[in-house]
Amino acid sequence: MQRRDFIRRGTLTGLLAGAVGPAARPLAALSSGPAPRRLANGDIRLSSNENPLGISEAARQAVIEAITVANRYPRDQQDALVGQLAAAYGVAPAQIVMGVGSSEVLQMAIQAFAGPRTRLVLADPTYEDAITYQRTHPYEMLKVPLDSDHAHDLGRMREAVGSDGRPAVVYICNPNNPTGGITPSSAVDDWIREARENVFFIVDEAYIEYVDDPAYHTALPWVADRPNVLVVKTFSKVYGMAGLRLGYGIAHPATAARLADFVAKNNTNQLALAAAGACFGDEALIRKSVQVNQDAKAATQGVLDELGLEYLPTQTNFIMHRISGDLGQYRNRMAEAGLLVGRPFPPMLEWNRVSFGLPEDMDRFAETLREFRQKGWV
Ligand SMILES: Cc1ncc(COP(=O)(O)O)c(C=O)c1O
Repeated sequence: MQRRDFIRRGTLTGLLAGAVGPAARPLAALSSGPAPRRLANGDIRLSSNENPLGISEAARQAVIEAITVANRYPRDQQDALVGQLAAAYGVAPAQIVMGVGSSEVLQMAIQAFAGPRTRLVLADPTYEDAITYQRTHPYEMLKVPLDSDHAHDLGRMREAVGSDGRPAVVYICNPNNPTGGITPSSAVDDWIREARENVFFIVDEAYIEYVDDPAYHTALPWVADRPNVLVVKTFSKVYGMAGLRLGYGIAHPATAARLADFVAKNNTNQLALAAAGACFGDEALIRKSVQVNQDAKAATQGVLDELGLEYLPTQTNFIMHRISGDLGQYRNRMAEAGLLVGRPFPPMLEWNRVSFGLPEDMDRFAETLREFRQKGWV
C-alpha cells in the first residue's frame, strides 16, 4: 500500500511494517479475554458508537504492565506515543496534541480560537461537542442544515462564514455523526484551498477507519503548511478504547502549540498511553473491527429493508433509520427490551441512530424491531 493510500484510508498497512507499531498478530489473539459484553444490568448499549469487541489482547497486556508505572507522571510515555504517531503520519512530534479523548482536542480548539467576532459554522445535525464547548465563549454560532444527500452543505456553510473578513471556526465531521455519510473530500479540499487564513477548519475523522467510499480521504496533508487546519482523531472507535479516553489532534506546529495552551497538564494517563502504543497501527485489529462492523451493518440493513424502514447510507459504526412515531417512545420501548439506542438529534426527530454491536446484538435488535412491527409500533 502506498503512503497516499494510507493517508486516504487512514489505515497503516505497509507504512508501519518494520517502522513502528506491532506486527500483525493472529486474529484469534484479539478476541481472547473478557470483552465487556453487556452493561451491569444486562442491557446492550447500541447508543454510543462504541466498539463491541473491546480492546485488543496486546492492549490489555500493556494496560496490565503499565500498572507498575501508575505512580509516575506520564510525560515519557506520552512522548513515546507521540513519536510513534508522528512517525506513522509523517509529521513532527510538535504537530500532535494529545487529549482525553478527541473530545478534549475539540474543546481545546474551540477555546483556542474563540473571539468576540468569531463565527462558529457547523452542520445541522452534527456531533455536538463543538456546540457544547462554545457555550462559554462569545461565538456567533451558525448551524447549516445538511444537504439533500445528508452531506455537509459546503456552499451554504461558506456563505455562513461570510466574506466580511471576520474570523470563523468551521467544524466538519467527516464522516458525519449522527448521519453516518461522508462529505466528498475533494469539496472539503476545495474550500480549504480557497479559504482565507482566519477561517479555521476542524476536521473530525473519528470514524475514518470504517470508510470505504473512494470519494473520501483524510484532510491530513493540509496541516503541513496550513496553520488553519486541525485534524482530529481518536482511539475510541476502531481501537475500542472509548473507556480509556485518548484522542489527538494533528496540525501545523504553530497551531498545535496554540492548542496546547489549553491542555491540562499531564492530561493523558499511563494505562491509555500503554494501550494505544500497543494497538496503534495493528492491522489485524483494524481489519477485525471493520469486518465485524460490516457484518453488523449488513444484518441491520437487512432487517430495515425487510420492514421497509428507510435508512441513510453509512460509512461508520452506526446507522440512522426512520421510525414511525415518537423517538422518545421508541427509545423507551427499545430500552424495555434491553436495547439502548439513539438519542435525539434535532431536527431529525423522526430518525433513530443505532450503533453496530456484535452479530448477536444485531440479531436481538432485528427481532425486537420485527416485534415492534407486529405491534404496529414501527
Ligand atoms: C465525530 C465524533 N468526534 C469525537 C467524538 C468523541 O470521542 P472521544 O472523545 O471518545 O475521542 C465522538 C464520539 O462519539 C464522535 O462521534
